[in-house]
Amino acid sequence: MAIKLKDFQKRWLPKINDVLENEIIPDTDQETLAQSMSYSVNAGGKRLRPLFSLAVLTSLGQSIDHDILKACCALELMHTYSLIHDDLPAMDNDELRRGKPTNHVVYGAGMATLAGDGLQPLAFQWLVDNNLPSAIKSELVLELAKAAGPHGMVAGQADDIHFEGTKLTLSGLQKLDRNKTGALIRYAINAGLIIADVPSTQRKDLLKFAEAYGVAFQIYDDILDVVGTEQQIGKPVHQDATKNTYPNLLGLDKSYAVLQTTVNSARQSLKSASETLSSDLSLLADFCNYFEFKDEK
Ligand code: IPE
Ligand code: IPE
Ligand code: MG
Ligand code: MG
Ligand code: MG
Repeated sequence: MAIKLKDFQKRWLPKINDVLENEIIPDTDQETLAQSMSYSVNAGGKRLRPLFSLAVLTSLGQSIDHDILKACCALELMHTYSLIHDDLPAMDNDELRRGKPTNHVVYGAGMATLAGDGLQPLAFQWLVDNNLPSAIKSELVLELAKAAGPHGMVAGQADDIHFEGTKLTLSGLQKLDRNKTGALIRYAINAGLIIADVPSTQRKDLLKFAEAYGVAFQIYDDILDVVGTEQQIGKPVHQDATKNTYPNLLGLDKSYAVLQTTVNSARQSLKSASETLSSDLSLLADFCNYFEFKDEK
C-alpha cells in the first residue's frame, strides 16, 4: 500500500529542512547576504514544491539519494526568492511572511533584493552541482528556467502588478495565475518525472494534474486572503483589495465552486496518470486534502 502523506512528510520534511538549513551558508561568500537568504528560506513554509517532486519519485518507485534530494530542494530556493521579491515595498509591500517579519523589514529592501538575486542562481547551481546524468540536469535547468522566468512566474508577477486596480477577464486571470503560481508547481511535478526518466509521451496526465493543482492553489490562496487569519496563514490577510483575484472577480461562493471543480479535475487527471504510468498515485491524491471547502469549516 502507498505511504500516506502524513507519514511521507514525517520522513522527508526533516531531510528537506536539513539541506536548506546547512547548505546555503557555505555556498555564500558574504555574511549578511548568507543570513538574509537563510532567514527567509528557513522561516518555515510548507515545502509543498520539493515534497511534490519527492512524492512523484516515491510513487514511481525511485530511490532518493542526497544528490536527488538537493536537486529537489533547488525549487524551494527559487520559490523563496519569488516570495522575498513579492513582499518588497515596490511590489505587494507586506511585512509578515511565514509568521515572521519579511526579509526587507529585517535586512532592508536592498539586501532583500540581493537575497532574492542570490537564491535564484543558487537554485540552478543545486540542480547541476551533482552526479545526476547530464541529460537529466540540462532538462531540469531548461524546465526551471522556463517555469520561473519571463515565460512563467515572472510573467505572472508582471501581469499581477500591471493590471492592479483594473479588472481582468476570467481568462486573463487564469493566465495570470497559471504563470505566477502554476508554473513552479507544474515544474515541481515535472522535476520528479524528469529525474525518474519518464518518457515525455507518458508525462501528460501528471502534468495536467499539476496544472489544475496550481490553479486551485492560487484560488485557495485568494480565498484565504478573505476568510483566513494571519495566525493561520503566517502572512497578513485582506491585502488583495486592488488585486485580480477570484473572490474579487467572482465573489466568494463562486470562488469556492471553481476551486471544487478545479480540484475534481486535478483528481481526474491523476486517475488517468495512474493508468498511463501503471503506478499507485494515492500519495499525490493526498495533496488535494490541503484544500478546505466552505461546508467543511
Ligand atoms: C505562497 O506559496 C505563494 C503562492 C504561490 C500563493 P506557499 O503557500 O506555498 O508558501 P509557503 O512556502 O508555504 O510559505
Ligand atoms: C504571489 O502571489 C505568488 C508568487 C509568485 C510569489 P501572492 O502575492 O498572492 O502570494 P502571497 O499571498 O503574498 O503569498
Ligand atoms: Mg503578489
Ligand atoms: Mg503577495
Ligand atoms: Mg496571495
